[in-house]
Parts: sequence; C-alpha cells; structure tokens
Amino acid sequence: MSQNEVDRGKRRFLIAATTAVGGIATVGVAVPFLASWMPSQRAKAAGAPVEVDIGKVEPGMILNVEWQGKPVWIVNRTKEMMDLLANHDGQLVDPKSEAQQQPEYCRNATRSRAEHANILVAVGICTHLGCSPSEKMKAGPVSGLGDDWPGGFFCPCHGSKFDLAARVYKGVPAPTNLVIPPYKYLSDNRILVGDDSKGA
Ligand code: FES
Repeated sequence: MSQNEVDRGKRRFLIAATTAVGGIATVGVAVPFLASWMPSQRAKAAGAPVEVDIGKVEPGMILNVEWQGKPVWIVNRTKEMMDLLANHDGQLVDPKSEAQQQPEYCRNATRSRAEHANILVAVGICTHLGCSPSEKMKAGPVSGLGDDWPGGFFCPCHGSKFDLAARVYKGVPAPTNLVIPPYKYLSDNRILVGDDSKGA
C-alpha cells in the first residue's frame, strides 16, 4: 500500500470517528434537557410540581388538574362570588383559616394569594373520609342547597359542605377546611402547583 493510500485511509477513519462522536454528543446533550422539563409519570406521582395555564379559566369557571395523584381545583371567582364570601362566617368552623390547612400566604378569608385573590387553588378531597366533593358553584336554590347558598362544594358521601374559599360549614362530618396546596405564579396566567419557592 502506498503512503498516499495510507493517508487517505487515516482521513476516512478520522472523519467517521468525529461524526460518530458528534452524534453521541448530540444525544448526550438532548436527553438530559428533555428529561429536565418533562417529569416522568413516576416523578409526577411522587410530587413534581405541575405547571398550569389558567389564562382560559373565565370568571366563574373551574379547572381540574392533577397533582401528586390528587384532584386540584383552580377556580376563577367572580366579584359576586368574592362578595358572598364575607356573609356567612358564623356558619363556618374556621372562617379565618387558623388551622394548618394552607400555606401562610393563604391564611386569610379568601384563602388565596393576595396578588390574585380571586383565584382559588384547593385540593378537591373531602377532609372527612376522602371523597371528592361536587362543585355547587352557583349561588341560590339552583344548587339544591337552600336559597341562601353562596356557592361552593358539596360532598355526596356524607353531606359535608364547603364554600367558595373551600371553608367547611359547621354541623357536617368534615372537621376542617379543604387543603390549599403550595403554589406560586410564574406569570399572570401561569401557576405552579406544588412549589412556592422563591425565584424561577
Ligand atoms: S367523605 Fe365527604 S362527607 Fe364524608
């Protein structure tokens, strides 16, 4: 074999080796990136935060999402709904949310973050024995819960009632308000359920 043929052979080998390394490097970069923004089903079940676009949740509407295998309600409360929250404290077990059922920033009458007080984020699991309450968000007799019903949620299992701040009524089996999960706003229309750390 001549020196020229040996050199050509070396060049072909180097080009092939470089291409193969480049291909491996590309896969090596892409996979961790995808993995970093798409949590696996197992990670989700274990508690990965869930990002939710709430831009299409019109006033008076509710959006159901899943976090840690639990239903989470996101309710865009209208002004009328917010006004009605103030009228029935005497019928509630914990109207000021003093029990440990919410993060500190939701320990208030609306049980929501101050910067978006109209948005309720609540775990939709009854604090009695864990059924999922039904939405009864319309006020008044159409709810079947009385003329003065201000809107809220009704647990069909044993009759517990919660208002639109997920606060429990007196005289029902559920002992406490529904749980408010940790959450934070990424922008006006995006929230992260399950994470309230600063930044990001
Ligand atoms: S589980 Fe809801 S009232 Fe019993």
